[in-house]
Amino acid sequence: MHHFQYHQGILLAEEVDLRLIAEEVGTPTYIYSQATLQRHFEVFSSAFAGADHLVCYAVKANTSRAVMAQFAAAGGGADIVSGGELVRALQAGVPAQRIVYSGVGKTESEIAEALQAGILMFNLESSQELEVVNRVAGNLGVKAPVSFRVNPDVDAKTHPKITTGLAKNKFGLDMELAFEQYLAASAMDHLEIKGVSCHIGSQLTQVAPFHDALERLAKLIQRLRGRGMELSLLDMGGGLGITYDQEEPPTPREYAEALQETVNRLGLRLILEPGRVLVGNAGILLTRVLYTKSTPAKRFVVVDAGMNDLMRPTMYDSYHAILPVVQAAESRVMVADVVGPICETGDFLARDRELPELKRGDLVAVMSAGAYGFAMSSNYNSRPRAAEVMVAGQRWAVINQRETIEDLTRGESLPPWAG
Ligand code: LLP
Repeated sequence: MHHFQYHQGILLAEEVDLRLIAEEVGTPTYIYSQATLQRHFEVFSSAFAGADHLVCYAVKANTSRAVMAQFAAAGGGADIVSGGELVRALQAGVPAQRIVYSGVGKTESEIAEALQAGILMFNLESSQELEVVNRVAGNLGVKAPVSFRVNPDVDAKTHPKITTGLAKNKFGLDMELAFEQYLAASAMDHLEIKGVSCHIGSQLTQVAPFHDALERLAKLIQRLRGRGMELSLLDMGGGLGITYDQEEPPTPREYAEALQETVNRLGLRLILEPGRVLVGNAGILLTRVLYTKSTPAKRFVVVDAGMNDLMRPTMYDSYHAILPVVQAAESRVMVADVVGPICETGDFLARDRELPELKRGDLVAVMSAGAYGFAMSSNYNSRPRAAEVMVAGQRWAVINQRETIEDLTRGESLPPWAG
């Protein structure tokens, strides 16, 4: 469910006419619906009401401070993967004790900053990282709260580029190695073992892989408890999918049902790291048609948003619905590629898509762009990154200004020997 709907033939963001935002802010622009964000958080969190739980929003999906602040106010925490995300989450008002830190490549300074901030838990991914965290914590005179990210070797049945829980993926430790590392960690002075974590992939459309992963983790937890280890947290990561096109992912309630019973039986506090399911359908990318053209083989609609603005179609062949902002009274249907201005054949937002006939100047909305949209955008082809706007009812505000050319060249200089 989201709040981007037609009213009298005009696509609105909540109660705001998208044409107005295009006029005042320009295009391409990301637009988020506050009511949708709110609803998604509530539906997700209340699905887990039967378990002691904490929703740590995966901020990599959408790093906007306005989005993070909203979830923090609703009781959420953050799942971070860098020092940059730590600073942003803290600035957005996420309490440090609700922050978990994931990722295979945390640097020593990032680890120190997170320890100084007092985060809830580090999810460790290698034996070397364990040594470093122990040492850095010792230097700071604190104990580092840790879990290991376990790779349960479960097929998440999603796109290969966003599968993370298979033995061949770079993430986590396999069961046996994890067991050994827990034993090693329990002998170290500057660590506090908190729990066990995993994240098996993204855009999952079935509950079975989550359930299978949990069963495997439960065995490890029992083994560790058998060695006298005290564990209090179980972090099941993120990954619940959304509907971009025809997918029918499990509802948050179905997802919760698959996990809650085992977690309660184990007597652990459940941590969840949802990203996409909270923000994906709460955002769109508003773009304008620059040109239309036909070749002997194809029709093309050239819009002012490119792969630098929304990378997902290029990177994962992912589908995003494309809707005209103004519905024509009687419009003919055409089949076209919707492409951006970037000089790459891979620069497309849709291929062979059936669309109402579009002409130069028309506005279109690229749907379901709230997750991994702006967050993955770049300056390729020296294109300033898009503006971001938040809508709430009839109100709207720019929450991130469009970049300028000056922003792009800041910090750049010629070497002194170049004349
Ligand atoms: N926790 C960890 C440790 C993760 O690596 C991720 C996502 C999440 C949580 C959140 O997963 P979600 O609930 O959003 O599925 N760029 C790709 C998705 C990459 C996901 C990376 N990790 C895309 O656009 O589809």
